[in-house]
Amino acid sequence: MGKTGLQLSVLSYGSWVTFHKQVDDSIADELMGIAYDNGVNFFDNAEVYARGESEKLMGRVLKKKNWDRTSYTVSSKAFFGWRAKENKPNQTGLSRKHLTEACHEALQRLQVDYLDLYFCHRPDKNVPIEEVVWTMNILIQQGKILYWGTSEWSAAEIMEAHRAAAQYGLIAPSVEQPQYNLLERNKMEYEFLNIFRTVGMGTTIWSPLASGLLTGKYNNGIPADSRFALEGFDWLKDQWMVEDKLSKVRKLADVANELGTSLATLSIAWCISNPNVTTAILGATKKQQLLENLKAIEVLPKLNAEVLQRVDDIMQTRPRQAEY
Ligand SMILES: NC(=O)c1ccc[n+]([C@@H]2O[C@H](COP(=O)([O-])OP(=O)(O)OC[C@H]3O[C@@H](n4cnc5c(N)ncnc54)[C@H](OP(=O)(O)O)[C@@H]3O)[C@@H](O)[C@H]2O)c1
Repeated sequence: MGKTGLQLSVLSYGSWVTFHKQVDDSIADELMGIAYDNGVNFFDNAEVYARGESEKLMGRVLKKKNWDRTSYTVSSKAFFGWRAKENKPNQTGLSRKHLTEACHEALQRLQVDYLDLYFCHRPDKNVPIEEVVWTMNILIQQGKILYWGTSEWSAAEIMEAHRAAAQYGLIAPSVEQPQYNLLERNKMEYEFLNIFRTVGMGTTIWSPLASGLLTGKYNNGIPADSRFALEGFDWLKDQWMVEDKLSKVRKLADVANELGTSLATLSIAWCISNPNVTTAILGATKKQQLLENLKAIEVLPKLNAEVLQRVDDIMQTRPRQAEY
């Protein structure tokens, strides 16, 4: 992972939206089992997912599986709190108080002694960066977390954390969790390029399928058992169900067909073809989805320069100043 010694599997599995809302204990047990048996060693979570219920569910599965704790990594993220509208001022954000308390709560819910990765889920302009870096360093010293990172921070904010860490001799963030997929490329292919070269940040990228849009499942409307049909997710549906995006996905199906694979598998393989991606976090609600998505590893070698160029020509989403 970046410049650290940590080895993350190139495909990982996360629980946003799915755990508790769509996936119960028995399905989560099956899906995490399939992931682990296929080499996935990173499971992603956050305090805010299903208001803490996602961590509890993952914790129950991890306990039942009883896998060797040294064989997998698990994360949590703090910032949003887990009480939604009932959050009081100190129950969100990146203060020492909330970062520490959210860490303790995540350890309890996940039923683990330490988090391998702990993320600041968003930047917090109300907290001095020194407070954030010191807190993460202390949590590492206490053995409660092993590595810390950021999610959806700007390049400038990440470098500010590195500056503070260097100033006080503290451990800097080693990983960022940005969105990255065929429709959202700017951070990974433009904004962060200098950081990859200098501090060597790892990335655990999210929504490799743009919440499912890149599978083609929404090309002719919204299936009843899909994410965009869920109550309370209109904002996500409105963000992605746009004709311009859908028409690109329809065209991309030709490339997938020619490669003898599915749109989902092609789209995930495309994400991990970027050498700056440490791991792509998969989200899946069904066994068939996960098995299909894991095949991205087999499709990856087929993504030569010619195929990548065709994909770029169709999607028209490559940042203009991309340098690789
Ligand atoms: N740091 C952050 O701010 C942040 C934000 C978002 C996510 N994340 C992390 O990233 C993980 C992955 O994000 P994501 O869930 O948005 O990933 P995604 O791969 O973009 O979307 C996953 C969803 O697409 C559908 N899908 C997946 N494979 C499919 C297939 N083969 N065929 C048809 N439909 C398929 C499923 O939803 P349905 O079955 O419901 O349609 C599935 O839950 C999350 O679990 C979370 O850990 C982090």
